[in-house]
Amino acid sequence: MRIDTDFLLIGSGIGGLTFALKVADHGTVAIVTKKTDQESNTNYAQGGIAAVVSAKDSFQSHIEDTIVAGAGLCRRKVVEEVVRRGPECIQQLMAWGTHFSEKESGDPSLALGREGGHSHARIVHSSDLTGAEVERSLLEQIKNHPNIRLFPHHQAVDLIVNEDRRCLGAHVYNPETGQVRLFSARVTLLATGGCGHVYRHTTNPEIATGDGVAMAFRAGAPVANLEFMQFHPTALYAPEARSFLISEAVRGFGALLLTLSGDRFMKRYHPSWELAPRDVVARAIDHEMKLSGEPYVLLDLTSLNADKVKTRFPNIYKRCLEYRIDITAEPIRVVPAAHYMCGGVKTDMDGRTPITGLFASGEVACTGLHGANRLASNSLLEALVTSARAAAAAIQEIKTSPPTPKKMPPWDKGGSVNEEEWVLISHDRLEIQRLMWDYVGIVRSNRRLDLAQKRIGLISEGIEDFYRATAVTAGSVELRNLALVARLIIRSALRRKESRGLHFNTDYPERDDRRWRRDTILGRSTKL
Ligand code: FAD
Ligand code: SIN
Repeated sequence: MRIDTDFLLIGSGIGGLTFALKVADHGTVAIVTKKTDQESNTNYAQGGIAAVVSAKDSFQSHIEDTIVAGAGLCRRKVVEEVVRRGPECIQQLMAWGTHFSEKESGDPSLALGREGGHSHARIVHSSDLTGAEVERSLLEQIKNHPNIRLFPHHQAVDLIVNEDRRCLGAHVYNPETGQVRLFSARVTLLATGGCGHVYRHTTNPEIATGDGVAMAFRAGAPVANLEFMQFHPTALYAPEARSFLISEAVRGFGALLLTLSGDRFMKRYHPSWELAPRDVVARAIDHEMKLSGEPYVLLDLTSLNADKVKTRFPNIYKRCLEYRIDITAEPIRVVPAAHYMCGGVKTDMDGRTPITGLFASGEVACTGLHGANRLASNSLLEALVTSARAAAAAIQEIKTSPPTPKKMPPWDKGGSVNEEEWVLISHDRLEIQRLMWDYVGIVRSNRRLDLAQKRIGLISEGIEDFYRATAVTAGSVELRNLALVARLIIRSALRRKESRGLHFNTDYPERDDRRWRRDTILGRSTKL
């Protein structure tokens, strides 16, 4: 069955939901999302949203911190726009019903956290469950709007783009019915989030398989800066569990990073010690783990006031107790894990891609804000600003765009062999994740990248053959996307012959501003 709508939004995290609320008075909105409505990276965000809301802080300082973290690749205009709209975004969320933590003892002004790379405390938060609170309030607004329909368990498979390079919507798979539905739209927004599951260890939930980047690339949209994968320095080391993030705000609160022998090693790596930018801290931990041969380092809060720790980080305290760790009494074992995709589908400040009618916002997009390394807590902010701007542009777009044609390109996936063949590729997901972790991780080299490229080529061929021959399944769609995104990351990393921000290559350990102060852009003509 075909669904016709003015605005098709793929993804129900902060990027998709903000856009929905901004356009809903101007047309019909369909949101497809591949799991339950709240399942998204947004829902797990802990630290908060960076915004200049204190008189002691300044836009200039937030702009400079963002640009310093971005290691020469941020687009200054984008940084200025995003930072200056921070306070307005916080007000907007509060008007939509988001509750942020306030200062103690009856002071109604917002409590502000501190994170790495920020020169001021400027992180607006809801204790350590900021994302869940934002997601809750946005979904509540969405459900009350008569123009918005939300389709959970609907996985977009591919965009529909005509010969004039106009996006007409997407083919969407519903695993519950086994059917592929056509969603036709005058404007389509990709808000599919990141790709943490390309890597073996990640802080991201399972939805993060890079679908948006893969769909956009297949449709002919350029992607940028995918070599800049951000590894969060401190995920809980608990081999029996999926990675759980220990927020950077914990270090901002005073927690120390120690080796197992008690050495506060960050003093050797950066003048800001534990509050250095994320790339520096992650590499330092990686280096210390290699030196010591230990599989983790320690994050120690035991000298901090226990009651204050429990009040500020109730979720982290509770989750660690589930792993029999009382964070007020013993240090936490931590390791870096893949966390955030700084590159993505290349867009302008309004989230526009070069394909008419196709926008992208949030983690899937590369607007130029983050450059080579995202400053902590700038991503929720970026999604809020880009979605608001994209919504304004999209509202104009539908005033002049033609209605979608009655006759649309059919779903043309020929394969009909069914899932019994799955065994042929059932190990590929894990193999890709291991390959990326071992060869395309925090520290890279030419040899590792070359090996990774050869292996991913072979794995991808097998996956494509399988995909073409079989009926569509949720697993095969994701696997195909993971393989493509892995190839794009490897290709981007091979292109950049220097070390900058999150991309560190031992064969080119220096930053080379003369030749490499530019984005890595892969497009249709790129040979993978
Ligand atoms: P998401 O919130 O990830 O939403 C993507 C949506 O797309 C999901 O609904 C998903 O199901 C859907 N989707 C994906 N593929 C498809 C498909 N094929 N078809 C249909 N639907 C699809 N950033 C900060 O600024 N501050 C923080 O404190 C912070 N903490 C974080 C903590 C954790 C543990 C993690 C993982 C990230 C954190 N981040 C933080 C990063 C931030 O949460 C994300 O970058 C941001 O939430 C991304 O929002 P989004 O809307 O772009 O994507
Ligand atoms: C965190 O809370 O450490 C995550 C913040 C972010 O990813 O921006």
